[in-house]
Amino acid sequence: MAMERYGVVARGLHWSIVALFAAQYAVGWLMPDVHRATPAEGLIALHLTLGFVILAVVAVAIVWRLMHTPPLFPPDIPRWQALLSKIVHVLLYVLALALPVTGWLNASRRTWQPYLFAVLPMPRLPYSATATGSAIGEIHSNFGWVVLAVIGFHAFAAFYHLFTYKRERFWRM
Ligand code: HEM
Ligand code: HEM
Repeated sequence: MAMERYGVVARGLHWSIVALFAAQYAVGWLMPDVHRATPAEGLIALHLTLGFVILAVVAVAIVWRLMHTPPLFPPDIPRWQALLSKIVHVLLYVLALALPVTGWLNASRRTWQPYLFAVLPMPRLPYSATATGSAIGEIHSNFGWVVLAVIGFHAFAAFYHLFTYKRERFWRM
């Protein structure tokens, strides 16, 4: 019997998120260092736009997930692995929302007017010029590494299944 898979929408959302994250990390590292008077132009503007797109796509993915039953776990997956993967998946959803929010706070703290695709002005989140306010840039950067580590673990587990004994576990998604 063929293994149950995620639906076409869930798969489309997941792999779009993967592509968006890959692009966003590349842009985040390639864009110029942000200093006091740096304008939000070029790659930086692209970083903000991509961040908003990620926020929206992840929100849609979460709503979609809550409205649909995921495929049953294959019965031969050990209990601890099923539990661990559930925890990591929930964590990924939370982190994929939280990371762009810290970026958005950071951009707001810089008193930038962020735009979506250079045309649609996005609201500025409440920010403060206090110590917490200026730490938010550090938080976004460091948090980016934490999230990357969780993604790395998740991708490692996925590829482990692809290249070892449970190929179908990978192709569910
Ligand atoms: C999942 C989405 C995001 C990822 C993966 C991401 C990743 C990154 C990375 C890797 C950097 C470079 C950090 C460094 O050089 O140490 C960065 C910087 C930055 N990001 Fe994001 N980012 C995301 C979303 C956002 C959003 C939504 C905004 C704003 C609306 C934003 C605003 C910024 C700013 C302003 C910086 C410069 C940091 C500084 O103050 O030096 N990011 N981001
Ligand atoms: C190369 C990178 C990635 C690979 C190879 C990959 C692979 C997979 C696979 C195979 C599954 C299905 C697991 C199962 O059958 O139970 C899955 C689920 C999932 N992935 Fe990824 N993934 C990657 C990156 C990401 C990223 C960047 C995120 C989000 C930030 C993410 C979030 C999720 C979530 C939340 C689920 C659970 C879906 C659900 O049940 O709602 N993945 N991934």
